[in-house]
Order: sequence, then structure tokens, then C-alpha cells
Amino acid sequence: MCGIVGYAGHDKAGPILFDTLKRLEYRGYDSAGVAIISNGEIQVVKSAGRIEDLEKIYRDIGSPGENMGIGHTRWATHGPPTAVNAHPHVSDDVAVVHNGIIENYLALKEQLMRGGVEFRSETDTEVLAHLIGSCYRGDLAEAVASAVSLVEGSFAIAVMAKGSPRLVCARKESPLVIGVGEGANYVASDVSALLPYTRDVIRMKDDEIAIIDAETVTLRDVAGRSLPIDLERVDWDVDAAEKAGYPHFMLKEIYEQPRAIQETLASRTSEIDGEVRMDIGLTDLEIKSLDRFSIIACGTSYHAGLLAKYLYPKAAGLPVDIEVASEFQHLLLKPGTLLLSITQSGETADTLNAMKKASTFGVKRLAITNVVGSTVTNMVDGTIYTRCGPEIGVAATKTFTGQLVAMILLAIKLGRARNYLSYENARKMLVELARLPGQVQEVLDGRDVIREIAEEYAKNNQYFFIGRDFLYPIALEGALKMKEISYIPAEGYPAGELKHGPLALITDGTPVVALATHGKKIQANIKEVRARGADVIAFASEGDPDIPKIATTVVEIPGARPVFSSVLCTVALQLLAYYTADARGLPIDKPRNLAKSVTVE
Ligand code: F6R
Repeated sequence: MCGIVGYAGHDKAGPILFDTLKRLEYRGYDSAGVAIISNGEIQVVKSAGRIEDLEKIYRDIGSPGENMGIGHTRWATHGPPTAVNAHPHVSDDVAVVHNGIIENYLALKEQLMRGGVEFRSETDTEVLAHLIGSCYRGDLAEAVASAVSLVEGSFAIAVMAKGSPRLVCARKESPLVIGVGEGANYVASDVSALLPYTRDVIRMKDDEIAIIDAETVTLRDVAGRSLPIDLERVDWDVDAAEKAGYPHFMLKEIYEQPRAIQETLASRTSEIDGEVRMDIGLTDLEIKSLDRFSIIACGTSYHAGLLAKYLYPKAAGLPVDIEVASEFQHLLLKPGTLLLSITQSGETADTLNAMKKASTFGVKRLAITNVVGSTVTNMVDGTIYTRCGPEIGVAATKTFTGQLVAMILLAIKLGRARNYLSYENARKMLVELARLPGQVQEVLDGRDVIREIAEEYAKNNQYFFIGRDFLYPIALEGALKMKEISYIPAEGYPAGELKHGPLALITDGTPVVALATHGKKIQANIKEVRARGADVIAFASEGDPDIPKIATTVVEIPGARPVFSSVLCTVALQLLAYYTADARGLPIDKPRNLAKSVTVE
């Protein structure tokens, strides 16, 4: 997730671009850049770091005549956050800012290189700049239309060209809003950036192309046919707009999960040949010679790691050890082990210290993280990035499901390279994986049922979460989310463990969340707690005939194999925790005593 802006008007573009970019900084803040047309020439300034850093090096590059420009604040997905990789990207005559992922960028890049194009950055966006540049013969909208018809993936772009008096924008599956002002028009990834300037906006739709100057905005399709304009008046305040109208960042981030999963999968899977194409810094020979998989992580990331215990023995023939990073000293790593650290921030002190200690074992090391260029990435042989965009709510949500998806991709990759997972099984898993974003959306659409349950039990002073197999880590994660933001003591257990002690805590009306989408054994555990007076809130597969007969309340989850159910149940439990905390009137995005990045041991 990145932020893009654009301006065409009679005022100086620079200050407006910087102001609007700062309002989008929550979408990404590892590097930034602006391009301005000044005296007919495109001038570009870019830097790594925050927008303030860019502003310091920005010189008053365009007086007079500097009244059109584009800008970008980046959250890296392709290539580290350096000035070279920052947007705008340019060809000879064209400058582009982009949000999204170009899935076929490698094929397009090779094609352009064969035609003599030299690339400066590692980004997918530079491909777009050269592609538009190669189509540009004086009509920028025409060039953008031709270029985007060759592109697979998602994009929101704003484009300027030498000699073009207008900005051109296009979108597919990434947000883009045009602000319509008096003698000035604006572009932004999000309404929040535009509110100080105008409240009249056009939300661009997929496959639309917008042509913008100070006085006019026109819309057309890729074939050049003009399209009607749907002008909307926005009455949000700035705070609500930053959260895209959601009351909290956490809820916004919960809702971003279909997109985050889609982006984490983008260009990495081939359903046809059952392959996962992801560079993990190990050759196939090295992957074949592995005999153990060890994982270290903390908190929510540790729960993502726990999934491996159920997934990797069967999918990749690898036994799994997992340890919370602060207890790593007890893990003995033998040659042939692949060590994975999972950390959304890439900066958690416990995890980094464990990775440092692990270097003495001389084993191959891998990281799953959401932050390109974070410290952990310098300590490993390979990194798998979740492409979730920045997460602002302290409680991890979209980065957790991103981690689960990355773990699944890695299992398929290792399983195939080790000839452990059959082509047919890998292919089936990839087909089902592609359905996951839509199924997550279905869970989100069922939020009202979950909200009612949350409100009913919000005054309770304890919660239990039980699950078996793939759903045990999710029971732990559900309990952690509940504790973190609602402050209700909540415990997660393997469903079979209750009878070995915790059952003593069950009394009349104790809420027990049972993750019951798979397996018959959990039915006995549900009956066990019901017999002691518990209220069972069961998450069951759609159409399950048995669970409704034994649970107090049932929430239906789309049918999926257990490993994918872990993602779907997670989303439902995030909503349960969220609505519980909301009903208790708590500061959801900043729970007491917690920090987003824990950089002390
Ligand atoms: C819980 C949460 C924490 C983090 C933990 C590790 O919602 O966010 O438990 O998961 O502090 O953080 P990372 O993943 O950044 O290493």
C-alpha cells in the first residue's frame, strides 16, 4: 500500500503535493518523491525516509510555471526503500507514480530491455513508466490506455509527460480519488488527503482513465469513449477520512484483509503448473537437503508460526520446532535446519536477538516480515514479504493473516522442491488459495451476527477459546486479541486439554468459543463444557448439520480445508474481539501498556 497524489492548478504545485502526501503517510512512509513540470521540463526529487526528509532536500525547483505535479509516499514491495526505488519513475518524457502491484512486470521488463530500455530501479513501476513512454506520441491519455491494456495486476497511477498540459490517471483494483476544486483539481489515493482543498470528489472506477487540468476533469474508457462523471460531496472530518470512514484503524485493517491476501499472493503462484515462484535465497538442492524446520517469533507472529506444526510435516516432510523468541536459548539447531523468524515489524528485539544467537549454528535463515528493508532482512539468507501495507492499530490483524498466507506459500514451495507435495495437491491448494480473499470477504459480510454476540458477552469477565489441529493456534490468537483490546481475561486451549484442568473454571454462562469447522472430536468438547453450564459460541462450516444442535450460538464460516479455515476463523475472531472492545468503550487502536513495535528485550 502506497499513497499517490497529483495537482493541476494555478498555484505552486510543490507545497500542495507535500501537504497532501503528508496526509497519506499512514499508507506508507519508507521513501517518497515528487515530480513537477517546470518550464516545460519534468523535475524529479526523491529520497529514502519520511516526507519531511524529502521536503528538506526539495529546492524551489519550479518558479514560475510550476503548477502541475505528482507525488508518492512508498511502502516498499519490490526493491528496498532507497531513493532510486522511490517514485516517481521516469522514462525520457514520462513520470509515473503508482500504487499496486504489476504482476507481469518481469515479462514486460524483459521485453522492454530487448528493445534497448535501461532500467535504473528494482521496482515494478519503472516498467510502467517505460511502457507509457514507449507508447507516447503526444497524446498522453492514448499512451496510458495502450500501456495499461498490457498490464496484469493492480494499479492506481498518475502520469505526467513533457509537452502534455494535462495529468492522466488510471486505476484497476487500487483506490484513486479526484478532487474537483475552483481553478484546481487534485488526485489522491484517498479522500483524507483532499479535504483541506475540496469536498467534491470523483471516485475513479476500474478501467477508467481521467484527464485532468486546472479547469477540467474528463473520464474515458481504454477505447477512448467518454464516460459520465459521478461527483460526490464528502462530509467526513479529516480523522474519519484517514480511517476511510471506519471508526478505528483496527476495523479498517480487518477489512483490508481480502486485498492484503491478494497482494501477498500476487505474481507468486501458478495454478496451472502447481508452483510457487518466490525467491527464498535457497537453491532447490539446499531445500532438498533440509531435514528440520525451526521457527522463532513473538506474540501474534508466534501464533502464525504454530501453524507450521500442522502444515509442514505433511506438506513438506519437515518436522517442526517452534519457540517464542525470548526463550530461544533452549533450541538446539543442527545442520540441515531451516530457521524461520516471523516478525511483521522486522524490528522486535527478542526476535532479532534470537536471530543473532542463531547465527552461531551456521544454519540457513529466512524471515517473513511486512517491512521491506527492516533489520531482520539483513540477518537472513532470504525474506518473504507479506504485502499488507502499514498496520497502524497496535493489535496485529492483516499482517497475521498475511503471515499465515506466506507460511502456506512457503510450505507449497518447499513441498514441491522436495518432491513431497504432489503436483495435483499443490495445484488444488493454489486454486483454493486464490478463492481465499473472496471467502474472507464473506466472513466480513457476516459481521452483524458477530457484533450481536460480542455485545451480548461484553460484560463477561472471562472467555475461553478452544480448537484442535490447525485451529488450535487460531484459538490462541483469538484469545490474545480478546485480551489485548477488550482487557477480558481470555485463554486459548487445545480443545482436548480442558478436561485436564481448565474445566474447573467453567461455570454457568461462561463464554467458550469453539472453532468447530473440522473434525468430530470437538463435538465431545463442546458437550463437555455445555454440561458444565458454558455458553458455546461455535464457528462451524456453512451447512454443518451437527454443531447447531449442541452449541448455544453458531457463526457460519465458508467451507474450506482446515488450513484455509484457520485464516477464515481468524477474521471472525478479530471481529469478535473488536466489537467486544467497542462495546466496552475502550481505546481499540492503542490498548493500554502495549506498543506496536517492541524494541526492548
Ligand atoms: C499482538 C501483536 C504482538 C506482536 C509481537 C511481535 O496483536 O501485535 O503480539 O505480534 O509484538 O511483533 P512482530 O511481529 O513485529 O515481531
